[in-house]
Amino acid sequence: MRTNVAIIGAGPSGLLLGQLLHKAGISNVIIERQSATYVLGRIRAGVLEQGLVDLMHEAGVAERMDREGIVHEGVELAFAGRRERIDLKTLTGGDTVMVYGQTEVTRDLMVARRDSGAPAFYEASDVQLHDLKSDAPYVTFTHNGEQLRLDCDYVAGCDGFHGVSRKTIPSYALEIFERVYPFGWLGLLSDTPPVHEELIYANHERGFALCSMRSTTRSRYYLQIGLDEHVKDWSDERFWKELKCRLPEDIAAQLVTGPSLEKSIAPLRSFVTEPMQYGRLFLVGDAAHIVPPTGAKGLNLAASDVSTLYRILCKVFQEGRHDLVSRYSPICLRRVWKAERFSWWMTSLLHRFPDTDGFSQRIQQSELEYYTSTVAGLTSIAENYVGLPYEPIE
Ligand code: APR
Ligand code: PHB
Repeated sequence: MRTNVAIIGAGPSGLLLGQLLHKAGISNVIIERQSATYVLGRIRAGVLEQGLVDLMHEAGVAERMDREGIVHEGVELAFAGRRERIDLKTLTGGDTVMVYGQTEVTRDLMVARRDSGAPAFYEASDVQLHDLKSDAPYVTFTHNGEQLRLDCDYVAGCDGFHGVSRKTIPSYALEIFERVYPFGWLGLLSDTPPVHEELIYANHERGFALCSMRSTTRSRYYLQIGLDEHVKDWSDERFWKELKCRLPEDIAAQLVTGPSLEKSIAPLRSFVTEPMQYGRLFLVGDAAHIVPPTGAKGLNLAASDVSTLYRILCKVFQEGRHDLVSRYSPICLRRVWKAERFSWWMTSLLHRFPDTDGFSQRIQQSELEYYTSTVAGLTSIAENYVGLPYEPIE
């Protein structure tokens, strides 16, 4: 087999890139380790920046998102028993975010891929990348017991944090930057109406809590928990009780509880790979970087990588602009680091750390007071939360 771009991984990064390239007439093949059902079973975040919303439109997959997604013009921070609203729209001069689950984004992209007839190999095993430093790279993998070889011009490593792409790059060619946080998030999904029409990020002495949603009838809540805790330790009853305790009283009083549809624990990590390119391989999304979920930036950063790579590859294949290839990594990394900073900062601001003493607690409270009481502070949070601009490729 031969194609222009071999895409490793069918998460949102791989599927979105594949759809955009296909629409531009650039051939691509997607190779995914898991089954489609497995990929759709993963519950992830659900806040889309305008940049991703625009990209979904450009890819021609926005119809259901436009219908079912909920535009949010603000978000709340709760601390010291108070609630402070951040008016995203006013503070940024008109920007908002869209609440629409990543699982739904993936589902819409999967349907579009199937309808396009472009090849996607699910349940592929033993995926290996070869000759990435040459101008004739190729990928080998096993599918339905058959050993296959895919020759290509470029490889897009969209295979997430645990994928094969980053691991194929020799360690001397990469620099890794990392922070692992001393707590996790326990998430609960339920068919109950959201406690509030906007998201609430709560700083509480017992730990962080987040009230989010997927629709007007489905809620997603999170609690900061210890690294040694397990889902089985958390009955629904215990979860709801703890959540109520961490929310401001007026909000807690309105909380509607119900049986969980899903409960899972996510570790929190900041991680960046530099550079995001090795020869003919580009790392995209979680394969190159991870952010803690506190700023809702994971999926959105993946989208800005996809946008940059897509625009560069269009110029490469349509105008022979091979000189642009080396711009991918520096353009992406500038935006990645800003989102890493914001996600790390939001995490530090809102969570209880094991070594938090009286002094650091007062600093945290005072930082929350300061940022929510000045236009400069509110604007800083708002412009980062809605997403910093995408850098043009030239
Ligand atoms: N070969 C082929 N596919 C692989 C391999 C491999 N060796 N290893 C992993 N994959 C697949 C995974 O099964 C997964 O479907 O690559 C895909 C990567 O998808 P994601 O982890 O979702 O990463 P990405 O598409 O970059 O999405 C961005 O943003 O909100 C965050 O972490 C969240 O997934 C989200 C991410
Ligand atoms: C979610 O809805 O899952 C969600 C929302 C905002 C975040 C993280 C997760 O910051």
